[in-house]
Amino acid sequence: MKSTGKMGVGHISENKEKIIITSKKDIEEKLRESLKNHELPDYLLYTGADGARNWLKLDESETFLVARKLKVLLEKNIASIVRFIPTGMNFVSIGVGNGEKEIIFLEEMIRKNLVEKPASGKISIRYYPIDINNELVDIALEKVENLPVEKKGIVGFIEDMAILKKIWRLPVLFCIMGNTFCNYEPEFILQLIRENLEQGDLFFFDANLLPTEGSGEEAQSAKRSVLGTYASRENALFNMYPLLHYGMAPEDFDFELLLAHVDSRIGALYRTRKSLNILKDAELRIGPETIGFREGDIIRMGFTYKYTYDQITSFLDICGFDILKTFLSEDMENVIILAKKRI
Ligand SMILES: C[S@@+](CC[C@H](N)C(=O)[O-])C[C@H]1O[C@@H](n2cnc3c(N)ncnc32)[C@H](O)[C@@H]1O
Repeated sequence: MKSTGKMGVGHISENKEKIIITSKKDIEEKLRESLKNHELPDYLLYTGADGARNWLKLDESETFLVARKLKVLLEKNIASIVRFIPTGMNFVSIGVGNGEKEIIFLEEMIRKNLVEKPASGKISIRYYPIDINNELVDIALEKVENLPVEKKGIVGFIEDMAILKKIWRLPVLFCIMGNTFCNYEPEFILQLIRENLEQGDLFFFDANLLPTEGSGEEAQSAKRSVLGTYASRENALFNMYPLLHYGMAPEDFDFELLLAHVDSRIGALYRTRKSLNILKDAELRIGPETIGFREGDIIRMGFTYKYTYDQITSFLDICGFDILKTFLSEDMENVIILAKKRI
């Protein structure tokens, strides 16, 4: 999705703890328009209280370990990561979800600030949990109720980063966690972040990798394991939810997920390709409108890139980022990276 900047900006609402840039109504309108074009981008899977509940359920499921394995890698390396983060930095996390990884960061940052505190007194951290889902922002805010940080939740899109950045106080550690980075075109997301970070800011993200690029049995088994993760029943239900919620029956359509090669500036990359294939004529009712589908229609969905480690570091390099530190899991399946914009 490209910038949504014009939308919602006129309706910004604010209270002490939270700013709403994108409203529920905006999202419902996007859902309607997307489905009319036979598209269902991934961010629409996280809509409303049900979208939040579905994601949290998927995140806990035994068959979908992506975000959880990234959390384990973060926990293991948090002290080393925070050593690279100057005292006094503020913390922005976009696509925050339930905010549990952010607690790991904040607790370590607070510990470090206390140790390094200048004689003059207290250093306060400002925390900005950001998500398009209002309910998830509330959950993330509740999680830090007892931490000594100043907080401001924001409901908005990462694509509107130029608007979001006016809210936060510099310098920031800007995070995208839970493999969310891989849901975007690499050069689009890196350019967006580069354009909107300032000189003293840092960028942190994680990714679930394709462990090997070569051909042969090992590569085939890696691909099978990727397909296994995303084709699980739990993930299928998560992806099918909007159609079921707005009136279709499970037998009206099929969820399909493939792993395909796509070209890029650095060569071929693996990317998932998802679709909902309509098996019977059916209708959806969203707000005041009815949207009809015919047998054989295909609804195109979002994707996840499956990079190798070298592919990610190449993109960082060509998009103008210097890597400060990377942590690869022992099985080479997950990575977390701290970087800064090259000046
Ligand atoms: C894969 S989940 C990851 C959640 C969390 N960071 C974690 O590690 O568990 C992606 C999150 O990003 C949010 N999201 C999706 N698209 C977004 C967008 N364009 N801008 C901001 N947040 C978005 C979703 O609502 C969801 O909470």
